[in-house]
Order: sequence, then structure tokens, then C-alpha cells
Amino acid sequence: VGVRDDAPPTQPRSIVPEPTTASSPRTFSDDFVWGSATASYQIEGGAAEGGRTPSIWDTFSHTPGKVQGGDTGDVAIDHYHRWKDDVETITEMGLDAYRFSISWSRVQPGGSGEFNEEGIRFYSELLDALVAAGVKPVATLYHWDLPQELEDEGGWANRNTAYAFAEYAARMAAEFGDRVHTWSTLNEPFCTAYLGYASGVHAPGRTEPAAALAACHHLNLAHGLATRAIRAAVGEDSVVSVTLNFHVIRPDDPDSADDLDAVRQIDALSNRVFLGPMLSGHYDDDLIHDTRHVTDWSFVLPGDTQLIHQRIDVLGVNYYTTFRVKKYLGVGERSRNDGHGESAASPWVGVTDIDFVDQGAPYTSMGWSIFPDGLTELLVSLTERYPGQALMVTENGAAFPDVVGEDGLVHDPERVAYYRDHIAAIADAIDAGADVRGYFAWSLFDNFEWAFGYNMRFGILRVDYDTLERTWKDSGRWYQQLIATRTLPA
Ligand code: NOJ
Repeated sequence: VGVRDDAPPTQPRSIVPEPTTASSPRTFSDDFVWGSATASYQIEGGAAEGGRTPSIWDTFSHTPGKVQGGDTGDVAIDHYHRWKDDVETITEMGLDAYRFSISWSRVQPGGSGEFNEEGIRFYSELLDALVAAGVKPVATLYHWDLPQELEDEGGWANRNTAYAFAEYAARMAAEFGDRVHTWSTLNEPFCTAYLGYASGVHAPGRTEPAAALAACHHLNLAHGLATRAIRAAVGEDSVVSVTLNFHVIRPDDPDSADDLDAVRQIDALSNRVFLGPMLSGHYDDDLIHDTRHVTDWSFVLPGDTQLIHQRIDVLGVNYYTTFRVKKYLGVGERSRNDGHGESAASPWVGVTDIDFVDQGAPYTSMGWSIFPDGLTELLVSLTERYPGQALMVTENGAAFPDVVGEDGLVHDPERVAYYRDHIAAIADAIDAGADVRGYFAWSLFDNFEWAFGYNMRFGILRVDYDTLERTWKDSGRWYQQLIATRTLPA
């Protein structure tokens, strides 16, 4: 089944350079791409307009108890109607690139069969406006909003979803290939598979561990098939990417063999389950072994891993925090402080004896500890593991409890510091040899933060949810200045 039996790699422990003191300015090259990112369900609204049909997030958010405050993406930040103004903001900010996602059920209601011209027109006009403004469009094909009809047929646990995705990808590539600068097949398949099908905190809200692993495989397959489809439609020189949310995992006790084994296990489940087939063409043996009581992996058919193993022109890296793990030895309190939401069911399929340990302040509003050096470690370790692989930080950012000051503005020094420190961490990684091509702030606007609804504000622009007006936060102005100078001030 494409499973390798030689010894699996453990998470590399790289030698990370000492962070440079904040006292010297850091200049980035002129071709380093500065961008910001959003996703369709989080910003568009217009949920029932223009021929769009429901996705799993419409169903999920309309199910009582699933999203804080009963919030939904019905209106979101109304980008569907305000996109022209939003492109003006993008231009004013000076972004080199804008990363957004296409709502599958807007362009192909139901996820199979006929495409919807009105939905296609929406993205076509957006692309035209971006290109006219000199902004590079980075289009994600799947940012979690699966057409509901496909979920009704089993969703990502069903192999057919991967083929449906490839058909959708082929059409998008044919329609938009002349204007999209970089294609991204999937955003954070970890969340789709484990939060959607194991812990159930995300749509479709299923708690079936075996289905979650099948979903991982079918997402991998979808990535491979879509990558081939894009290259077939647009040409070999099209730029194809995938965005993964890597887990930088640290042992609670670096001298404990048990804790180091916990690191290995979580690395296999969260990182190598995707990296293995995508970048090396196989699933690691330890992953299969660790999960053998959950599934026999018979959903991996001959030839699949070769198909998944396609060249990735630039690997998308989403980074927010690190993780600290400890083997539970049967004594003391359990803790699952993994930042992946509260639920009775665990996202960590097949794992019963690993705890996620609180890493301490400073925290963002999401409860995520702030560790800029984890980003350096991640970029450097990816470079060591896959020499020559181009990387792009496709998401990084922070939610904080913003307040509107008496002057009507949002002064958000914590967010500015978060960005400054993480961008400095990227400069450190580049100095250490990582080929990092760009950076995308998450997010351009406050938006629908999934199970947290509108409570979490990640934007560098504020959205007033009564008027839907956007206003610049200090962080937005700071980022604008950074892009203009391409220099991180001392
Ligand atoms: C990852 C996701 O891609 C994005 O949709 C989400 O809003 C941010 N991280 C923040 O949680």
C-alpha cells in the first residue's frame, strides 16, 4: 500500500540560530512577497446568493451549539458585495499578493455536475481587479467549505470526494489559470481531517477516528490529483502549492525517552501523514503501526502514494504556536492543552497516553502561547529535511481583544509585536539557509473564526459587525509601512 518499512525519520531537531537582537534593522529582498490572507466562508457572506448552495460550514454553523454565539457565515463581512472596496484596501496597503479561497459550492453547486457561471464570474472579476492593481492572486481551492451534498455521500472519508475535487480543480485552472499567480490545493488538511472527523469541533462535526485517517488519505489524494489537473490545464510552469499547518512539537522533558516518543507520535499524526506521501511518496511505517488498532489503512490503494507525490513548487506553511507534549504515565491530572478547541472526543487519533502541556504566557486570545522561535525552527527543519524546497509562510497572525480607542482607532501593540517578532524569526530562518519566498498576514480583516464565531479578531483591519465598516488597526498601518520599506525596523 505504498507503506515504507525502513526506519521512519523522527522530527529533526535543528540547530536554530540565536535570534538576532531587535536592535538591527532587517531588510528583505525586493522579490520577497508580502501578502495577506482570507478564506471564502470566513469573509464572503452572500451564502444563498448567486446560485451558491450550502457547504458543510453552513450546515454546521446553523446547528445549535456548534459555533459560539450561534454565529454563522451567512453575511460574514459581506465581502461578496464589498469586494471592490476590499481590493482598494489591498492596493492601499501595497500588498504584493492576496491569498483568498474559492467557495466550491459557489462555482459548482453540490460539488459535482454543472458549474455555475455566476459564481465563476464573481472570482473572475475579483481576479481581474487584483491583476489590474498589480497584486498577485494566490488562490486556495479548498479552505474547508465542502459542498454539503458531498458530505452527504461520506465527505472526505469517501474516496470519490478526491475525484470530485480534481474535476473542480481542473475547471478552476481552465477558467483562472491565466490570472492566478500561485495555486494552493488545500488549506490545513490537518484541520479538515482531525477537527472535522475526529474531535468534531469543525464541520462536519463527526467523531469517527477511522474516518479521520481515511480523510487524511483522501485529502492527500485530492492534492495529488488536483496538482496534476492544474498542470494539465495551465501548463508545467504553473505554480502549485499546498498549505499545511505544521506542528512544532517539543518534549516536556527533553531527557525523557517517553516524551521524545510522544513527540515522534504526534509528529507522525500531524505532520508526516501529509508530508510523507506529498514530498516523499510514502506513509511512514510508525504512523501505520501507531494507528493499527484504529484502521488497517486499506483505503490506500496501489499507486496512490506515487500519485500524491507531485512536485510542490512552493510549500505553504501556516504557523501560530508550538506544542509541548508529555507521555502520561498513569499518575496526576490529564491535560489536552493543544489549542484545537474543547471537545470530549480527541483529534489525536489512536493516542491515549499523550498529554499536551500548557506552555504559559504570553497567550493570544485563542489561548495559544507565543513562540516566534518555533517559526525559525520549523522553516530551518523543513529545509534540512527537504533541501531546496521553496517555502512560503501562508498564514501567521494573532487574535487579541481589541478595543476601539476614544480616537475611534484600534491601537494593537501586542499584534504589532507578534508580527514584528515572527517576521524577524523568518529573517533568521533565511539567514540560516531557508528559501522563504513570502509571508501572508492572517488576516486582512476580522472575520468568522470558525467555532469561535466573530469573537476572535485576527484582522489587521477591524470590522464593525453592526455596520460592516472596515477601519485600519495600527497593525495594518505598521504592515503597510513594512511593505513600503521592505525593512523590519530595529
Ligand atoms: C488557520 C486557518 O487556515 C484559518 O482559516 C484560521 O482562521 C486561522 N488559522 C486562525 O485560526
